[in-house]
Formats: sequence, structure tokens, C-alpha cells
Amino acid sequence: MSQASEVYPVIWQTDHVLLIDQNHLPSQYEMVIIDCFEDMAQAIKTMIVRGAPAIGVAAAYGMYLGARDLEVTDRQEFLAQLTEVAVQLKATRPTAVNLFWAIDRMLKAAQQFEGPVAEIPSTLLEMAQTIHTEDLQTCHQIGDYGLEVLPDAPDQVRILTHCNAGALATAGYGTALGVVRSVWHRGRLERLYIDETRPRLQGARLTAWECAQEGIPATLITDSMAAHCMQRGLVDLVVVGADRIAANGDTANKIGTYSLALVAKAHNIPFYIAAPLSTIDFKLSDGSQIPIEERNPAEIYQIGDTFICPAGVDFYNPAFDVTPAELIAGIITEHGVMQPGELGQLQGKQAI
Ligand code: MRU
Repeated sequence: MSQASEVYPVIWQTDHVLLIDQNHLPSQYEMVIIDCFEDMAQAIKTMIVRGAPAIGVAAAYGMYLGARDLEVTDRQEFLAQLTEVAVQLKATRPTAVNLFWAIDRMLKAAQQFEGPVAEIPSTLLEMAQTIHTEDLQTCHQIGDYGLEVLPDAPDQVRILTHCNAGALATAGYGTALGVVRSVWHRGRLERLYIDETRPRLQGARLTAWECAQEGIPATLITDSMAAHCMQRGLVDLVVVGADRIAANGDTANKIGTYSLALVAKAHNIPFYIAAPLSTIDFKLSDGSQIPIEERNPAEIYQIGDTFICPAGVDFYNPAFDVTPAELIAGIITEHGVMQPGELGQLQGKQAI
């Protein structure tokens, strides 16, 4: 397995979960204790924990915490109340499908458990830990497969990424940033360009923080500088993560990803998605069906306590956009690098 990164956004400890509070990075590194499912739902909603795979892992523990705290002995009633826990956890964020995938996997584990009702919670804790450790392993596999997309020359490449698809967004190591880490560990990374990622600045706050922690050579740019950097020949390839991939390869990721893919195409620069199988939604035939989260407009009209625009205008704040499959050179998964049109081959391999 590739070299570890030391950042783990979700940690299970005896009877509670610790989350790195990602809203306070990089100025403060704080852990938040989560010991009931309601607090986990709130942590996902408020983006204390964020990034598609990390949300899935966190929600899995949320399901366990919800099950543990149920005071019901009748199986049907237990499962009905657990389903209500699932509904509340699912209502937190609509786009990243890993959330729904992990919760449904937990529900299925509870429904299929044939032992005493009192033992369902411990079965669910095991399943949450499985989802957690699988994701970490998956990220390392994605990182290693990412080496396959490197061009033969130059020996050292310049990669551009958007948002944070790093250790903080997963169980650890990262998907797109996992690829960057693997390339760097092989001595083949010249530099990572990081889009700041307006409005929530996951690139500036989180990806840049991860790179600074480990000494990965990185340059922060604003989102509007990416085209200029490509035009000037500063970028060899683009690698980003994903929140939901439709069956045809259309991919939802952080707002701004689509324009990056268009600009990459215009400059003949390969544009890759790095994502686990748990991010593919085979139920959706194309990206037009992916629900796009809209967030509080304050994220765009306010920086800190300062209003950055006059009163009298309206706001639109979609958190994600959809990049059409034809702009994607390949999808780097834990099963190898696939063309968007080849995803169907992976359908039987999903855990649920
Ligand atoms: O709104 P966020 O910060 O949860 O959005 C995160 C992204 O868009 C990531 O690129 C995606 O979840 C992949 S994380 C491995």
C-alpha cells in the first residue's frame, strides 16, 4: 500500500465519534465529539464533516449511534425507528450519493441480521467500521491507479485540482489528492495547482492545508486563474473528485468543476475524475437527474462579517455542477481507470 497521510477526519473512539471541524481549518485544528445521531446529522449539514466519502463514513456511524440509543425490543418497531433515523440522516445533503449508499448499506445490515434485536447495534458498529476501513483502502488503490494516467513525458507533472478531495474528504489519503500524493511519493510531481474554490474555499482552506502539512509543492490560485495557467502551459493534467457519477459517466462535483473541464478541453489537457465505486449512482442514466444542493446565499454575498455586494440583487448558490462525460478523459476508481462509457462493467462490484 502507498505511504499513509496522517489526516483522519472521522475517528471512532469506544462510544463516540471524533470529527475534525473542517469549518475552522486552517486557522484552528479542533475535534468535535459526536455521541448521538442528531449531532451527526447536524455535523453533516453544517459541513463540520464534508466530502462525499467522508460524509458516507460519518453517516454510517450516525446510523450506529441512532441504533444504539433506540429503546425498543420488538424487531419490526426497531427497524421502523431505525428507518426514521436513516430518513433524518439522508435529509442533510442531497448531492453526494455516498451518503445514501452508506445509510442504505447500514439499513440492509440491520434488516438482514437474524440474531436478537439487542445485538443489532453491535452488528451496525462492525458495518460502520468496515465502511470506514474500506474507504481508506479504496483511496490508496485509487491513488496507485492514478499513476497510470501520467504522460510518459515530462517526468515531473503539474496537476491542477479543484475543491478538496483529500484525506479530509474521505476516510484518509483522498481520491484526487490521493492520486496527487501517489504521484508525489513516486517523485513525479512538480507542482499541484489548487483552485481556491469559491464560495466555501475548500481548495484554499483544506487542500492547501493538507499540502502544507506534508510538504507537497502547491500553488494556490483563484478559480478564475485556471484558464490563464492552462494557456501559459503550466498544467499537464487536471484531477478532481466527485460527489455523484451517473451511469453514463456524467459527474457532479463542486461548483466550478464543469467550467474547469471545458477550459481543459479547449487547451487539450486531460481531465480526470478520481472516485470510488460508492460514488457511482447506477440508478441515474445521466447527469441531468443528479440533485444539486443549493446553499445559503450568505456564502456568496458575505465574507466573514463583511457584505461584499450592495442590497438589491438576487443570489443563486448551487454547490455542485455536472460535467458531461464527453469532457472526461477517464475515471480513476479502485478497480482501475475506466472510460466514462465503461462504468457499466463495475455495476456488479458495488457493495450494495
Ligand atoms: O461541499 P463539499 O465540500 O462536501 O464538496 C466536496 C466535493 O465536491 C469533493 O470534490 C467531492 O466530495 C469528492 S471528495 C473525495
